[in-house]
Amino acid sequence: MAPLFANSNTAPADRADEGSESRRKDRMSIPEKILNGINRLEPLPITVQRLVVALHDENVNFTEVAQAIEYDGAITANILRTANSAAFGGRVRIEHIRDAIVRLGTITLLDIMLIGHLRSMKFSAPAYRLSEDDLWLHGAAASLAVKAIIKETRNRQIPEASAIAALVHDIGKLVMVRYLSAKVPSIHAVCQEKNITFVEAERELFDCDHAEVGSAMAHKWSFPEPITQAIARHHEVNTVEPDPMLDAVVLANLAAKIVRDGTEASPASTPDLSGAEKRIGLTWEGFERVCMQTGAWLQDLKHNYGIRN
Ligand SMILES: [Fe+2]
Ligand SMILES: [Fe+2]
Repeated sequence: MAPLFANSNTAPADRADEGSESRRKDRMSIPEKILNGINRLEPLPITVQRLVVALHDENVNFTEVAQAIEYDGAITANILRTANSAAFGGRVRIEHIRDAIVRLGTITLLDIMLIGHLRSMKFSAPAYRLSEDDLWLHGAAASLAVKAIIKETRNRQIPEASAIAALVHDIGKLVMVRYLSAKVPSIHAVCQEKNITFVEAERELFDCDHAEVGSAMAHKWSFPEPITQAIARHHEVNTVEPDPMLDAVVLANLAAKIVRDGTEASPASTPDLSGAEKRIGLTWEGFERVCMQTGAWLQDLKHNYGIRN
């Protein structure tokens, strides 16, 4: 494998320090057109809603959840396949969705269900250089990267739900492109032309950024506050209070970019992570292993969904 940290092509758009204290203060509220877009957003499928509730409530009725899931053959097949995969497989092969739910746990189940939902939205966004599968695959890669970070660091401070925050960290882009002018020039072109960051370009073009919008969406979907906050701040790593979920999402976002884009970076040219990696106990060598593990898991996931590229 080529060194992950050599000859970075990291554009200003890809810098992780896309937010700062001063910009936060200047932050404009979400324009009404986009707020309306969030309010008009189709609700999450009922099974996903129940799993979101389960994030708050440990006493969720899994039999009810299983009954709701069994109506969807494709999702059922995926859950059974995941439960029997090498990563989760126990000695006993699982045939029933109720047993699969118990083996996988709420977070992984929600992960699978949300991926299914995001994938069904058939989202594409030329302004963001995102084709139909790009947004959910980037989120899925980030979610896998969180799992790889937890495996690598064995840091118990990183909540398991960080995988969900990573999965939906860029969800705001979904509303941004749906409800804004299709004639908006590529955000990346604006970044290069004005030498500004991706989030700065969004604010210039749309009066708000995808992190704010994504956090408003997560709030509407009743996601727990730590997830909503991690989405809101995933481009702001200058954190005053240590936040392991936010640090994990910031690093997972970078790992997902490296894995998906084939980007190579060096410690010197890697975006300023403001010590996120040190706070959660990840060395650069460890981060390289995280990227390799994420890449391998992503290949498995794409294989499961029949995606070739
Ligand atoms: Fe983002
Ligand atoms: Fe991202």
